[in-house]
Amino acid sequence: MRKKIVAGNWKMNKTTGEAAALAEAVKAALNGVADVEVVLCPTFTALKTVGDILAGSLIRLGAQNMHWEKEGAFTGEISPGMVKDLGCQYVILGHSERRQFFHETDQNVNRKAKAALAAGLIPIVCVGETLEQREANQTEEVVTTQVTRSLAGLDEGGFRRVVVAYEPVWAIGTGRTATPAQAQAVHALIRQVLAKVCNPGAAQAVRIQYGGSVKPANARELFSQADIDGGLIGGAALEAGSFADIVKAAL
Ligand code: 13P
Repeated sequence: MRKKIVAGNWKMNKTTGEAAALAEAVKAALNGVADVEVVLCPTFTALKTVGDILAGSLIRLGAQNMHWEKEGAFTGEISPGMVKDLGCQYVILGHSERRQFFHETDQNVNRKAKAALAAGLIPIVCVGETLEQREANQTEEVVTTQVTRSLAGLDEGGFRRVVVAYEPVWAIGTGRTATPAQAQAVHALIRQVLAKVCNPGAAQAVRIQYGGSVKPANARELFSQADIDGGLIGGAALEAGSFADIVKAAL
């Protein structure tokens, strides 16, 4: 049985003080919730502060990106070891905003996924089609390619720990959610692809989150689909009450 996982991707929001207040409020709202894995992913600048607040709670810390190299001349970048050092257990990789605005490729995501696992971090690998691609009936091809290339060459132990986040780009921050049936269809496809990339047993172990305009009102139905193992939450994670309600919808 896969344990559901709900992560809050705070994106480029919240100063350190604001992040601390939000983390405290989320911690209070989710006190005692143990049956869903909960992860908060603040900006790099707030990781230490939020990590200190979450220490001793069941809520995990995640980063939103990292470089694949251990160290060196990569101005502006953060290494896997640095992320780990701040107490992160998770790292989001290949978010569509990074693919779109920072030219992140499947090859880079693959390097990062391997580096994250080697550093003892769990990668949350994001995939998803644009509206143009969906309308051109390319969803299956796009998602298959992203999953296959991003997760190529992982050993089975690492592969089983990975979390995949299916985030249709047209549903991110638009208020336009994929219907539960639309999302489930792509999640089932992703699991088939995972079986080919590794093996069917490993594919059953991998958790696949849905992301894109998840709100308290639509979360329960999405999370009740057979292959939807939780959510990656943007806007609704910036407010403790709505994030906590979404987490509780996964119980
Ligand atoms: P929204 O929940 O704001 O649509 O964002 C989803 C997302 O991109 C999470 O990574």
